[in-house]
Amino acid sequence: MSTAEAWTVGKLLTWTTEYLKSNGSQSPRLDAEVLLAHARGCQRIELYTAFAEEPTEETKAAFREMVRRRSEGTPVAYLVGYKEFYSATFEVNPDVLIPRPETEHLVVEALDRAKQIRETRGDANAELRIADVGTGSGIIAISMAKHLKHCHLTAIDISPAALEIARRNAAKYDLDDTRITLVEGNLLEACPQEHPFDLILSNPPYVSQAEFEQLDKTVRDYEPQTALVAGPLGSETIVQLIEQAPAHLADDGWLIFELSPMLAEQIDTWIPAGWQAPIVTKDFAGHARIISLSRK
Ligand SMILES: C[S@@+](CC[C@H](N)C(=O)[O-])C[C@H]1O[C@@H](n2cnc3c(N)ncnc32)[C@H](O)[C@@H]1O
Repeated sequence: MSTAEAWTVGKLLTWTTEYLKSNGSQSPRLDAEVLLAHARGCQRIELYTAFAEEPTEETKAAFREMVRRRSEGTPVAYLVGYKEFYSATFEVNPDVLIPRPETEHLVVEALDRAKQIRETRGDANAELRIADVGTGSGIIAISMAKHLKHCHLTAIDISPAALEIARRNAAKYDLDDTRITLVEGNLLEACPQEHPFDLILSNPPYVSQAEFEQLDKTVRDYEPQTALVAGPLGSETIVQLIEQAPAHLADDGWLIFELSPMLAEQIDTWIPAGWQAPIVTKDFAGHARIISLSRK
């Protein structure tokens, strides 16, 4: 093959971008770059100085196979086995939801509330107990532990397979069980009430069965249904969490959770007496996304 015909990095990216675009990818160039960088075992940025190079046959074969699976709908994160969240990299596989950028708003809100609790208590280093309910890959618990000193996380999930991924991600960031305890259970049921949490955080399932059927096939056919679907209404898991939380929350603690903008419109109808009015945080698209609740 002459140089003009060679499948260089540049040509592979151009061709694959068009191919993935025609197969419905919303981010074809990014997908092509992430997959080729993974196949080459390099950083994405390194592709830009290698446009004229032709990858090895082995690299091209690995890339071709990932592009084929991507064109069928497999999410890029499952193909490469990781996803970035809050400036860190987390292992993912089809047992866990792929972290979404919207969930970073929950971490920011939780870090702010942690600061507020410490200020109110007059102790900048007060030890905080934090729960991450439905931890999945562990992104919320691990991000909190990385960015907040003097806290202990209890990361709960109903899925043992998800907890195994969370365990590996915690180990990657040297967060042993003195910082994060992993618990298998239904929401807060397995947590002893005599040790209340200062923060209860959750990105729970909040999709209704009908909405699930309408989701893009790259989500519906690949991500775990238990991570997405709450029940016929979509609000079931959140309502159950709000019911369980008072018995597990410190008097000055906060329950902070993510939800869909559609559910946010109904939030007032689910909050029983005993809670302050909900504080709503919007995502970058201007949609109501995070709800923060404190006790009266
Ligand atoms: C939307 S995913 C969130 C995962 C992760 N926290 C994130 O933000 O990427 C919801 C998680 O809740 C877990 N889950 C679903 N129902 C649960 C329940 N009743 N109790 C505990 N965890 C549950 C699922 O297994 C899944 O890992």
